[in-house]
Amino acid sequence: MSSATLALPSTGSSKKDVLAAMRTARDHDIKWQQGRAFGLVYHINEEIDLLLKEAYTMFFSENGLNPTAFPSIRKFESEVLAMTASLLGGDENVCGNMTTGGTESLLMAVKTARDWARQHHPEITQPEVVLPVTAHPAFEKAAEYFDVRLVQVPVRSDYRADVEAMRRAITPNTILVVGSAPSYPHGVIDPIRELAALAQGHGLLFHTDACVGGFLLPFARKLGYPIPDFDFSVPGVTSISADLHKFGYAAKPASVILYRSPELRRHQMFVSINWPGGIYPSPTMTGSRAAGPIAAAWALMNHLGEAGYLKITQTVMETTRILQDGIRNIPGLKILSNPEMSVFAIASDSLDVYEVADELELRGWHLDRQHFPRCLHVTVNHVHSKITGEFLDDLAAAAAIVRKPSFRKTSSKFIIAVANLLARLLPRKWMSALMEKVSSMLGGSGSGLPSRMAPMYGLIGSLPNRGDIKELVLDLLDSMTRLSN
Ligand SMILES: Cc1ncc(COP(=O)(O)O)c(C=O)c1O
Repeated sequence: MSSATLALPSTGSSKKDVLAAMRTARDHDIKWQQGRAFGLVYHINEEIDLLLKEAYTMFFSENGLNPTAFPSIRKFESEVLAMTASLLGGDENVCGNMTTGGTESLLMAVKTARDWARQHHPEITQPEVVLPVTAHPAFEKAAEYFDVRLVQVPVRSDYRADVEAMRRAITPNTILVVGSAPSYPHGVIDPIRELAALAQGHGLLFHTDACVGGFLLPFARKLGYPIPDFDFSVPGVTSISADLHKFGYAAKPASVILYRSPELRRHQMFVSINWPGGIYPSPTMTGSRAAGPIAAAWALMNHLGEAGYLKITQTVMETTRILQDGIRNIPGLKILSNPEMSVFAIASDSLDVYEVADELELRGWHLDRQHFPRCLHVTVNHVHSKITGEFLDDLAAAAAIVRKPSFRKTSSKFIIAVANLLARLLPRKWMSALMEKVSSMLGGSGSGLPSRMAPMYGLIGSLPNRGDIKELVLDLLDSMTRLSN
């Protein structure tokens, strides 16, 4: 895709005009305020948003890089960490940092394990992390960034980690074992107690990725829901990530990474001592650290308190039950496995769920398409309590349309068949052009993505070489931040 340059405007526009242009730019964004997104945004209500914004802007300019300059930020961060540790079964030894999100927390957990192993197991030259295939791709990113090998282990038929297979995957090079509470794709909690015992038995570190569950599971358990153990109360769990900007409902970007002991956390930190600019300590990935999210998280945790989070969790769990019951009543649709909290996947043995997602998209609902097996992702949060009836009606209508034998247009079938054939014959460098062409023939929106994604997913899924898919997605990523002519 070719791109254009853009000069800075020669004169500035008024505040009113700039803000108006931004409001217009939002027109085609997902309407998360109306519960139309099942991921990405976690929202309670306007009143809570106002509190978050006020707390955030109060500390808009401060920099969390230097806690001695801003004792206020230091207080907020250490209190957020201590409250999170107490929620997650930690004692006074548990310590950590706030980060910019789940990804940074997981990057830190892997980097810490790598440097811990360098000190305690200098004989390991190619460290390995053993984890279920369902663990978040941030681990793969960490492996690429920190030169650690990932050993991805298939999961059981209920999508939870297979402890025996994980045991077999451990080698003398293993430094860290990972489990999710819950995993993102199917919302199920891995057998953390068994996995942590396995790691401990081998003298290894164990990370619970509770990015999704960290701020919901403790409250769900208190409300009486059966939640398996996943936190520091489990012997062998040495670190936990929990995202404030997910079910903590705090402002983005905000997550917490916690370690069982300060000795372990030391391996996370960075200090430069010879720089002419002075001694430079930095606990996490970033240099300058936005203080707004730290302040906003502190404000919200203190505003909601345990009672507030319990109430919100009750609503979320009840909303999840209503949605799941409704989905199971729609012929052809099912929920994969038996997820413990408010994250789940919709699948089907008889319908193409990607086509169902396309139909929902036309009705203004956005659900991510997942694969292996094909399913649609649903993360239910507080805002969805208002839309259960409307969503279930639209989902039933979408499924009914896809169920009709006449649904699949012969023309798109023909286009896909020809494109598939060409994909096998063409050199890789022509593939993006082919995708764009197919996209426009199938009713592309002009943004490079077609309005109906199912045929594109079908085409991508059937490409003979998965390396091609990576290259195609890289092309797409590249195009995302370029101006098109
Ligand atoms: C289980 C899990 N871990 C980590 C992450 C990464 O979080 P973030 O997108 O905040 O970087 C996610 C995101 O959805 C997740 O579901």
